[in-house]
Amino acid sequence: MTVLDFQKYKDEGKKFTYVTAYDYTTASIVNDSECEVILVGDSLAMVMLGYTSTTAVTMEDMIHHIRPVVKGAPNTFIVGDMPFGSYNVSCEQAIANANRLIKETGCDCIKLEGGIEMADKIEAIVKAGIPVMGHLGLTPQTTSQLGGFRVQGSTPESAAKLIEDAKTIEKAGVFSIVLECVPSCVARAMAKAVKVPVLGIGAGPDVDCQVLVTQDLLGMYGDFKPKFVKQFAQIRTAMVEGLNQFHKETLEGTFPSPEFSFNAKVPGYEEGACAGELKEEVLKKLY
Ligand code: KIV
Repeated sequence: MTVLDFQKYKDEGKKFTYVTAYDYTTASIVNDSECEVILVGDSLAMVMLGYTSTTAVTMEDMIHHIRPVVKGAPNTFIVGDMPFGSYNVSCEQAIANANRLIKETGCDCIKLEGGIEMADKIEAIVKAGIPVMGHLGLTPQTTSQLGGFRVQGSTPESAAKLIEDAKTIEKAGVFSIVLECVPSCVARAMAKAVKVPVLGIGAGPDVDCQVLVTQDLLGMYGDFKPKFVKQFAQIRTAMVEGLNQFHKETLEGTFPSPEFSFNAKVPGYEEGACAGELKEEVLKKLY
């Protein structure tokens, strides 16, 4: 998957999938799957760091999490999310931080949130040679301005504004657009209104790609489940069951059995012996 393939998929009407990873092991699991794209999203604020919103995440946090994902998924296209406050000051600031994400992590492109108001920053980063993925609809970094985590574009006016935003950031140079939490009919209209692929999360079926947070779709994250999340597995339950079995077998004394122990015979350490009972010559050999 390269930036060019995103357009190819859309032009050929071929759907694809896009999921999150924030660490080496998860990235390597996604790398073994059929999913085409990984996002190291600032949603790591909630999922990995236990914050209640994404705004506290720093450039250092993002770099710290993107690096192991790049190592774990060498065959997957990796998107690095620009955290809140890292691109809204000036075009110079936006370019400098986009440069850092690419240079210090090796990810394939950056993603940032916002429409018309971010068009100059998008254009500046693209001109600096870095591919940019846009993000419209519910933009978690500015939820306080949006009045909370709620469906966007549900009036004709706000839907028209979203389409305008999409056309503007497409002109500014984004190669694709994440569209979060909007009515399906609005997402369908956007996917028709722009040439670049629309990557939907809570945006219904008529978009070019489906996005989900891995910990949500595998049933790992326990604090909250948005309406648009389908849990394709119940990993959290399986993990709790595994931990409880470990606890139970430890208390029973059935773990670790010989199969999981090193069973070499060490002279002087026969069953029941302790260091105080070792013969002098054995001690000399040992120390
Ligand atoms: O940070 C994130 O996980 C995202 C997705 C919700 C698209 O931006």
